[in-house]
Amino acid sequence: MPQIIAVLDFGSQYTQVIARRIRECNVYSRIYHYATPAATLKADGVCGLILSGGPSSVYSPKAPLPDKAVFDLDVPVLGICFGIQLMGHLLGGEVAHGARREYGLGRIEIFGESPLFSGLPSSFKVWNSHGDKLLKLPAGYRTVARTENSEFAAIEDDSRRFYGLQFHPEVFHTEHGVEIIKNYLYGICGCTGDWSMAGYIESSVAAIREKVGKSHVILGLSGGVDSSVAAALIHRAIGDQLTCVFVDNGLCRKNEVAAVEKLFKDNFHMDLRTAHAADTFLTALAGVTEPEKKRKIIGKTFIDVFDSEVQKIGPVDFLAQGTLYPDVIESVPIENNPASLIKSHHNVGGLPAKMKLKLLEPLRELFKDEVRRLGHELGLPDSVIWRQPFPGPGLAVRCIGEIKKEYLDILREADAILLEEMKAATDENGVSWYRKVWQSFCVFLPLRSVGVMGDERTYDYVIALRIVESVDAMTADWARVPHELLAKVSSRIINEVKGVNRVCFDISSKPPATIEWE
Ligand code: XMP
Repeated sequence: MPQIIAVLDFGSQYTQVIARRIRECNVYSRIYHYATPAATLKADGVCGLILSGGPSSVYSPKAPLPDKAVFDLDVPVLGICFGIQLMGHLLGGEVAHGARREYGLGRIEIFGESPLFSGLPSSFKVWNSHGDKLLKLPAGYRTVARTENSEFAAIEDDSRRFYGLQFHPEVFHTEHGVEIIKNYLYGICGCTGDWSMAGYIESSVAAIREKVGKSHVILGLSGGVDSSVAAALIHRAIGDQLTCVFVDNGLCRKNEVAAVEKLFKDNFHMDLRTAHAADTFLTALAGVTEPEKKRKIIGKTFIDVFDSEVQKIGPVDFLAQGTLYPDVIESVPIENNPASLIKSHHNVGGLPAKMKLKLLEPLRELFKDEVRRLGHELGLPDSVIWRQPFPGPGLAVRCIGEIKKEYLDILREADAILLEEMKAATDENGVSWYRKVWQSFCVFLPLRSVGVMGDERTYDYVIALRIVESVDAMTADWARVPHELLAKVSSRIINEVKGVNRVCFDISSKPPATIEWE
């Protein structure tokens, strides 16, 4: 069992950032609901506790409050922003309500000795974002740093090992933020910093073997990062007790089916079954133009095809999925909590319920960047690890209106050209444009316009290029790719793809547009 730092989530938009910063210091961290009983934290063996920030005021009737017994766990506690106010409020200090809001960069002056600031300069810039602030310290505390606006920018009670910061050390804008976190982890909580991907593989493999025993596991492989890494990890643990099913729905990109088969069958020697179901999907989609209806048909057909493929395998007990940590963190339903409004609306449900299988989710503790590192350790190629996201309904949401094989074939050819050029073009640092952007793909528009090619008039279809930058797909902006790259892509598509005589570049941001066109 690794050393665990618990982050109690009071609804801050930075909670996940805190958890990640800790992991970047090679210490395992886990986010807990703010009201998690102290007994649970104790049973999990946490060796340190962080109280996150949050949008509430401690005076709000709906203020999220922790189990007070977390202060009796005899582990170091670090309160950040709202966390420091909680300390003040719950441990006998005083918090000023609605004082002048401090937001943005400030400068702290450290005037007291503190293990939290060990080895750091006595003054540096910090990032603040809070309304309430501490007015009077709880008994046993002393103050070690101040800012222009706050007498109590950093406080501590050495005997109980309780620490509070009014600013956000986890945020990039705070100078020496990572060092403060490291001081807390290594110097105060006694963490050894030996949590690594290699260690993670070892303990996961053991856990998967124990959970699965002699049972059989199936996994729906999409070729994307998450399902591929999950497959490689489970395969390392249980070999042929894992069967992967890849559904060829006829909506894949050019050469995608062959590439998935080559990698997992030939290189990894996995038991991979491909369900060749393009006809089933295209028949079900015939004549349908409404985007939501198309999605529903694809979702339902997928479940049917997958289910019947699994029937052929024999008795199966577990369904493996590449669920990641951000998918399982329950957002805290707190007033004013922007994080609680952000919901993933794309996760495919329905399979486990229909198939009455137990779930195996070996990545549910990991963030995306950690999954990539894990994939690398497991020997997956960069082409998989750095693959751009691809929607479950595939090219169906990129072929506007009715789906026809003829349209899909045109789209596949155009898209292959765009991807090839995105991978070939690099910026001044040698990074490919494919890696620099969030997604880059073609959209097929079933409308025809007039053109001229050689001496002939043409009347052909339109391809739109969608190339966006984004951090989490919640918002996105069109990528400012070099004009020469766009020119080359356009010229190649029009010259090489029969049926296309016009290429447009989509310059809409999300919101109000979405990344996909349907
Ligand atoms: P939108 O179009 O909503 O897309 O801006 C946001 C991100 O989600 C991807 N996407 C999907 N992913 N199943 C998925 O697994 C889906 O049904 C789906 N629809 C959109 C999209 O590619 C973008 O990255």
